[in-house]
Amino acid sequence: MNHGPDFTRSTAVIGLQWGDEGKGKVVDLLARDHDVIVRYNGGANAGHSIVIGGERYALHLIPVGILSADRTCVIANGVVVDPVKLLSEIDGLRSRGVEVGSNLRLSDRAHVVMPWHAEMDACLEGSEGGGIGTTRRGIGPAYADKAYRSMAIRVQDLLERDRLRERLEAIAPIRGAQLRALGSTAPDIDTGALLETFLGVGERLRPFVTDTVWLLHDLVRAGRRLLFEGANATLLDVDHGTYPFVTSSHCSTLGIPAGTGLPGACAGRIIGIMKAYATRVGGGPFPTEEHGPDGHRIRERGREYGTTTGRPRRCGWLDLVAVRYAAMISGATTLAVMLLDVLSGFDEIRVATRYRLPDGSSTDRFPPDARTLARVTPIYETLPGWSEPIESITDRPRLPENARRYLDLIERTVGTPITIVSVGPDRRQTLVPAGAAP
Ligand code: GDP
Ligand code: IMO
Ligand code: MG
Repeated sequence: MNHGPDFTRSTAVIGLQWGDEGKGKVVDLLARDHDVIVRYNGGANAGHSIVIGGERYALHLIPVGILSADRTCVIANGVVVDPVKLLSEIDGLRSRGVEVGSNLRLSDRAHVVMPWHAEMDACLEGSEGGGIGTTRRGIGPAYADKAYRSMAIRVQDLLERDRLRERLEAIAPIRGAQLRALGSTAPDIDTGALLETFLGVGERLRPFVTDTVWLLHDLVRAGRRLLFEGANATLLDVDHGTYPFVTSSHCSTLGIPAGTGLPGACAGRIIGIMKAYATRVGGGPFPTEEHGPDGHRIRERGREYGTTTGRPRRCGWLDLVAVRYAAMISGATTLAVMLLDVLSGFDEIRVATRYRLPDGSSTDRFPPDARTLARVTPIYETLPGWSEPIESITDRPRLPENARRYLDLIERTVGTPITIVSVGPDRRQTLVPAGAAP
């Protein structure tokens, strides 16, 4: 009797806030216990930075697993791929001695981010009613074209001259007219030049391109362990985040099956990644945002500037109403609390555990809708802080008592155990339970 593929040894790493929780660091840490690292959503809007032995790497499209030897890295069908950016990421890694060859696989069905997508993104951001604060990487327009079907280009289309010409000739005139109507001052689209450029790009990407759906199923059947690398984060999920201030993909765990072609329960462990405080880049409500010195201090201590755009991140206190909701949506089985070191030295630390609603009542249920969320006021619990630096501590029991009380409050409120605590950007600055898998 066939017992089917075993997904119990596979893991998902998912952001539980508005991004930049430190997913990259956790994926890097767990890559050694997995064989295949899979990106399933988003595109070059993601920026995952990792520090290995003092060397900093920033990855946008390629899974972080590329930095670990002998791992297969998969960019699956749910990702929107800017092929020019992907090639420059490959070149950048190779120039630093990182192997990128048959260890990288790219879905033939992934959708391509074309130059007009980024231009539309920029125009819409500048227009009245725009202003989501996107990364301007063309993510929204590319996913819109995927849903729109007739205006889409997929990776496989870059590999065939006639097919690509037909696509460009059909799409370019419409896009050109739309861009002009949106006030774009970009030069007219030169279909012939674009054809040659993107055929060249396709040729360079050809060795990586494959049917990743069959590949992933084959790997699971062969007993390989998968590690899903979430990009963006649950509160930016197009369906379950703070709409419309979200990205355009399913960045919660709910995006994994559609974004890979694997069945629903394809990750036995789901690690919810959260910062010890909160940040957000771009627009949208952020109930616990601190505009004063506390927010400033978090930003400077945490080096809270975007990996992708360099924008200063908005900073504030930890919002457990939001995290508890995100852990529920993404089905987190454990938590990783990142950047705890950034909170050292505060006399007091505030944590939102409920919201006050405009009618005076209170709730612990997160309203995943920007208009409703904009009207809540956080209800804080205040905990005493700790003054000791904690960057060199290696065991959770050795943390200052008030730091441990802070972690206990998180576990109690979210109802999920913390198995990873991070006290610095380096691989080594990570507290995991002795003898146990994190
Ligand atoms: P991601 O998008 O979720 O992968 O997160 P980013 O890489 O965009 O942002 C997280 C930042 O925090 C990176 O610069 C990491 O190097 C850094 N980082 C991760 N964990 C820690 C930590 O525990 N302490 C400090 N101080 N920095 C950390
Ligand atoms: P990682 O993977 C932080 C935010 C943008 C903007 C909104 C929509 O590094 O955690 P988009 O360009 O996706 O259309 O922008 O989503 N955003 C992120 N913020 N980290 C990210 O990724 C993000 N990806 C998208 O700032 O508010
Ligand atoms: Mg990031």
